[in-house]
Amino acid sequence: TQDTIILGVETSCDETAVAVVKNGRDILSNTVSSQIESHKRFGGVVPEIASRHHVEQITYILEEAMAEAEVSFDDIDAIAVTEGPGLVGALLIGVNAAKAIAFSQNKPLIGVHHIAGHIYANHIVEELTFPLLTLVVSGGHTELVYMKEHGSFEVIGETRDDAVGEAYDKVARTLGLPYPGGPHIDRLAHEGEASITLPRAWLEPDSFDFSFSGLKSAVINTLHNAKQRGETLPVENLAASFQESVIEVLVTKTMKAAKEKNVDRVLLAGGVAANKGLRKELSDACEAEGLKLTIPPMSLCTDNAAMIAAAGTILYEKGYRSGDRLNGQPGLEL
Ligand code: KG4
Ligand code: ZN
Repeated sequence: TQDTIILGVETSCDETAVAVVKNGRDILSNTVSSQIESHKRFGGVVPEIASRHHVEQITYILEEAMAEAEVSFDDIDAIAVTEGPGLVGALLIGVNAAKAIAFSQNKPLIGVHHIAGHIYANHIVEELTFPLLTLVVSGGHTELVYMKEHGSFEVIGETRDDAVGEAYDKVARTLGLPYPGGPHIDRLAHEGEASITLPRAWLEPDSFDFSFSGLKSAVINTLHNAKQRGETLPVENLAASFQESVIEVLVTKTMKAAKEKNVDRVLLAGGVAANKGLRKELSDACEAEGLKLTIPPMSLCTDNAAMIAAAGTILYEKGYRSGDRLNGQPGLEL
């Protein structure tokens, strides 16, 4: 049988990434240029700055990824690119780069949903088996996705307001921690005690949706009220209490959904999968229920193009092709 080699391109947010993946699972190269340093002083991603960086970086990252994989365009079967969701100006850089390659090299073009990419990062780690449930947690997304086969995605729950990573970053900013704040809160949480009472948003009893803005406001109010009383709250305890609330809701809903959907496998995906507390609690819960859990290594949890190429390979093999009118779609649904 012949190998399928897919070139992946990802520019939906603040990483410019290109990768070459063989047979959907074998990474030949995975090049990422992060812009975090440029956005840090603004406390978050500035869309216009992101677009400018992507324009500057994309051709170099492409050359690097091709050289490292030791392939030429002749070896590539198709170009897979994130078509959405994401920042529109950022998406357009990747989509147009991919289109230019596809057109000039006469190769098929495959638009990939960013979340499908995050999920398929797990396929690189260990071949997906179905049915399965993925908890996607990143700076832009919080979703529970059920899959009964390759390429079939059913979103059974999602955030109604802030994404988990967004809540982490906003709480971190309130606590005076640098951007992105998630890792700092995670670290502090392990030094403190969850001694401060904070809410958990369970929503309707049968809902798998999430809400984190109330929790975020509760942290801000708690801090504010303490300040007014002339008290100082230990930051570690606030971090630990916030993290406990987030993880309790995420893990409880994931386990409930896994049971209801009768899956035997759970995946964790997205940048917040780096969270030590979440990894531990979800591992323990899955072990107690006899569910197999897969968590990608950090380099595949944060935005990258290997995951886009991996998801693109499945779509390619299913015969899916995007036409030359492929466009960046900031609000694309899974
Ligand atoms: O997937 P990602 O790299 O980018 C998006 O697609 O959004 O996720 C970045 C997010 C940021 O909000 C960051 O604060 C969060 O992941 N994050 C963490 C941790 N490491 C990164 N959140 C909590 N705990 C961590 N250890
Ligand atoms: Zn992402």
